Amino acid sequence: MEGIELQDTIASLPDRVVGILGSGTPVVVTGCAGFIGSTLTEALLAMGCKVTGVDCLTDYYDVSLKRENMAGFLDDERFTFLEADLQDLDAVALLQGKVACFHLAAQAGVRASWGDYFQEYLGRNVMATQRLLEACLHEAVRDTLVRFVYSSSSSVYGNQPSLPVTEQALPQPRSPYGVTKMAAEHLCVLYAMNFGVPTSSLRYFTVYGPRQRPDMAFRKFIEAALDGGKFQVYGDGSQTRDFTYVADAVRSNLLAVAAEEDWAVFNTGGGSRLVFRDTLAQLQEILVSRVPGIEAVLEYQEMAKGDVTDTFADRTYVEKSIGYRPTVDFATGLAREVDWAIARRKQG
Ligand SMILES: NC(=O)c1ccc[n+]([C@@H]2O[C@H](COP(=O)([O-])OP(=O)(O)OC[C@H]3O[C@@H](n4cnc5c(N)ncnc54)[C@H](O)[C@@H]3O)[C@@H](O)[C@H]2O)c1
Repeated sequence: MEGIELQDTIASLPDRVVGILGSGTPVVVTGCAGFIGSTLTEALLAMGCKVTGVDCLTDYYDVSLKRENMAGFLDDERFTFLEADLQDLDAVALLQGKVACFHLAAQAGVRASWGDYFQEYLGRNVMATQRLLEACLHEAVRDTLVRFVYSSSSSVYGNQPSLPVTEQALPQPRSPYGVTKMAAEHLCVLYAMNFGVPTSSLRYFTVYGPRQRPDMAFRKFIEAALDGGKFQVYGDGSQTRDFTYVADAVRSNLLAVAAEEDWAVFNTGGGSRLVFRDTLAQLQEILVSRVPGIEAVLEYQEMAKGDVTDTFADRTYVEKSIGYRPTVDFATGLAREVDWAIARRKQG
């Protein structure tokens, strides 16, 4: 199934980005079967890059959805798929000769990160990243690698005393997931500062759009509505989020390859701070306009441990440094996610 319109995402990229990611450029995408990684892979292929995608297809959510995410490019001759775990694959062999590595593979999700499952977070988020960074020290990798782009998260911020939050704010993660994303981000900065590995870290703020993970709120709401089921709201719905459309998250990856500094950390925000309750009402309206009469029944629960109350990215630095600004407004992005979710059900 086609994902999203990517023409706008790759249009009018700065010359220095196109110069690095030109036609035939070999790059790596880790987590290529995931929500954001599969969309980034499509954008890179549309730019003419040769993409080696790595994913071990974890069962955190239905593996068939990951295969569906890759269906549009799995047979593309410029795409090579390695079904492998970054914790034990030969990282030097993976990275040598590559111009960029977009590292999106991770164990996502805030709520599952407590308890025994934490070891998966530690391995998939911290150890896997450390192995890739170590590989970046090898001459065969250094010779060609222009940029290692790490997918970090706004979860590193926790609840900040003032919003919008700048990259200089003191990180105060509130979940074990946030701690592992922070640790891996710190590793990127350390390898850059100590060894000159050219890294850029992108702190995404709640990404949504077609292919959104099934454990994320909008996707859960849409599926519940289509099934006539219930949707659990954590807290009273007054929490606010800076929702970021997936194509914008992808564009931030492309722009980050040409960052000036070798260690920079950037906010990837969507441009507006929205009250969660209001976004659900908006979602309901879009759904009803497509499928008259449908509704997800809301059930309110306590705020989940690890969830933050408010997020909002300051974009001053990222805009000045790499020219990132969000391009898709919330109503448009949300409608695209709804239409995608309905269309994929129709296709069976
Ligand atoms: N979706 C969001 O709102 C959001 C927000 C902030 C940060 N992020 C970060 O963005 C990245 C992508 O998130 P997503 O929402 O697309 O998640 P996702 O779960 O859809 O994709 C991650 C992919 O990585 C793979 N993977 C995990 N560990 C691996 C390993 N050790 N080796 C190989 N493959 C492995 C999984 O199988 C999965 O397909 C993650 O790093 C996540 O932490 C996402």
